[in-house]
Amino acid sequence: MKKIFQNALKEKYALGAFNFVNLEMLKAIINASLETDFPVIASVSEGALKYMGIEETVGMFKAAKKNAKVFLHLDHGKNLELIKRTVDLGFDSVMIDASSFSFEENVKQTKEVVNYAHKKDVLVEAELGTLAGIEDEVKAEKNIYTDPNEAKKFVELTNCDSLAVAIGTSHGAYKFSGDSKLNMEILSEIETLIPNTPLVLHGASSVPQKYVDLLNKFGGNVTGAKGVDESLLFEACHKHNICKINSDTDLRICFTAAVRKYLTENPEVFDLRKYLGAGKEEVKNLLVEKIKLLGKF
Ligand code: G3H
Ligand code: 13P
Ligand code: ZN
Repeated sequence: MKKIFQNALKEKYALGAFNFVNLEMLKAIINASLETDFPVIASVSEGALKYMGIEETVGMFKAAKKNAKVFLHLDHGKNLELIKRTVDLGFDSVMIDASSFSFEENVKQTKEVVNYAHKKDVLVEAELGTLAGIEDEVKAEKNIYTDPNEAKKFVELTNCDSLAVAIGTSHGAYKFSGDSKLNMEILSEIETLIPNTPLVLHGASSVPQKYVDLLNKFGGNVTGAKGVDESLLFEACHKHNICKINSDTDLRICFTAAVRKYLTENPEVFDLRKYLGAGKEEVKNLLVEKIKLLGKF
């Protein structure tokens, strides 16, 4: 994974990091990687591990992965004991998200995880800065962006393998009330100061209107959703040093829309494999398109 990141940095492309919470989502991720013959990262949050069980997740991942180029990653790790456990259980990489703490505390916790994980060749992603709440207010709150000088100091002090930066994205389906915007100037400043560090973009779902419409058409109620424009994602990973693009919301919307559609159109069906299968297939299609946008072909 380290080699792939270094190559992504050199050749300017990104790996998709997609969250899963069950076998269907995991298979959709693996199948998209197989179909595109391109590496992907399968991410689990602490909440997802609580839902699935840690051992169950690792066992399912190892069994389902087979020869696919898919890596298992802990997303937004906050509990140091849990992070160490995932390292011990064979995760390929872990994120320590101590971004809500002071710079010093963030450095301290990140260093502790780096020291532990590197002994087992597990990569460590850290985060500096705070993801925006509402994009329109980002400009007024400059402090939420990652400070480029702090980023340089942080990477030197912690020796983390990749760094998640705050440049205007936020988690969830409601990222912007107007046009989507990312602060590419700050991104440029960061990559000038730490050119050898792969950067990570969280909150990078594009919230495709097609799936929001489908969800709403079949009984959902998601209005005013707005994600990051795909052209900005393209720019971030092909013209800048963003080497990992995180997406969870898009998969959730897509899966739910496909299941709603299937159940509405087939009211007599109560075989889980039918409607969960429809969700799995549609998420795979979505991810194939995403991988083609972010990756190198
Ligand atoms: O960035 C966080 C992911 O979207 C995971 O969310 O904690 O609800 O599983 P979750
Ligand atoms: P989205 O909510 O944009 O999908 O972001 C997911 C994410 O950053 C997971 O770490
Ligand atoms: Zn995130």
